Amino acid sequence: MGKAVKIRMEKTKMTRSKEHTSMNELDLHKWRYQTVVAGVRWKNPVGTASGTFQLDACGDYYDVSGLGAICTKGVSPVPWEGNPGPRTAESPAGMVNAVGLQNPGVDHYLVDELPRLKRLGAMVITNVAGHSDDDYAQVVGKLADSDADMLEINVSCPNVSHGGMSVGTDPVALGRLIARLRKLTDKPMIVKLTPNVTDIVAPARAAVESGADALSLINTLVGMRIDIVTGEPIIANTTGGVSGPAILPIALGFVWRVRQALPQVPIIGIGGIDSGEKALEYLYAGANAVEVGAAALSDPTAPMRVACELDELLETRPELARCLAEGRTWR
Ligand SMILES: Cc1cc2nc3c(=O)[nH]c(=O)nc-3n(C[C@H](O)[C@H](O)[C@H](O)COP(=O)(O)O)c2cc1C
Repeated sequence: MGKAVKIRMEKTKMTRSKEHTSMNELDLHKWRYQTVVAGVRWKNPVGTASGTFQLDACGDYYDVSGLGAICTKGVSPVPWEGNPGPRTAESPAGMVNAVGLQNPGVDHYLVDELPRLKRLGAMVITNVAGHSDDDYAQVVGKLADSDADMLEINVSCPNVSHGGMSVGTDPVALGRLIARLRKLTDKPMIVKLTPNVTDIVAPARAAVESGADALSLINTLVGMRIDIVTGEPIIANTTGGVSGPAILPIALGFVWRVRQALPQVPIIGIGGIDSGEKALEYLYAGANAVEVGAAALSDPTAPMRVACELDELLETRPELARCLAEGRTWR
């Protein structure tokens, strides 16, 4: 970590100990390079990835209003218990998880996590989960008049409306779902694509043509680990989602392909980002912003550190910084 980054991290810690009311103002001065995603200005191009940020765990490490955006855990229409354990397994340069979208449901979210995040001055992306099209519609309907700044629709969840397959793997079904959700909200709607397809451009195009304002990619890749003592899968759910540095080249390739096919759509790049350099790769591939996921599970400060490192890297890349600030991308 460079000296300037260390100093900024120290400043962030100091800020954290002050009253919440003053945090926003203090942080506004710190970030030099903004980005614009679907018309929404982020104070820097780095956000948290869904399911890897918990306010109670991370809020003590850094000022959450300092990040470009905080993307929440998936929110479902009713509380979901998630999958039985074991839910996670280590893997080379990554991990496998089958948490199963455990969350207390949208009604609880609206009176608890969302107001707390907004009181802290965070730019909030609410991640929406559903096991059927009606589930998604119910959550998006309830969020329509909320304080959430943006919505991110997680179309990787197993969906009973589509025989248990995630709706993100079927461009026709995805288009139908997004068109239905579009009618329910004026909020900027990001569709988070699943990488578990042969052609990422087809669902990307279907989402955009049906009303998505932006795309985020990628969600986790299906994978598993086996315990060689028992000969059985380590994760109770058998398979889970692979994330972490191992998926970076795959995710980057997807971002590149979608950017080539859809030059205008705002893209948030996700997958294996644990440094400013890796975030920069995504921006050069054509992303408008990035989200940091699994890296935050071993180091809760990772998203803020990545943002600080990227801020330094953009100092010597004024052309890229200008593109982002104007809502354009490198490619
Ligand atoms: C423990 C865990 C929970 C996750 N939960 C969600 C979720 O609720 N909704 C979602 O869209 N993605 C979820 N994800 C996927 C991440 O947001 C991200 O897309 C993925 O992990 C790839 O990024 P990474 O390599 O930086 O972790 C989860 C990932 C992990 C590791």
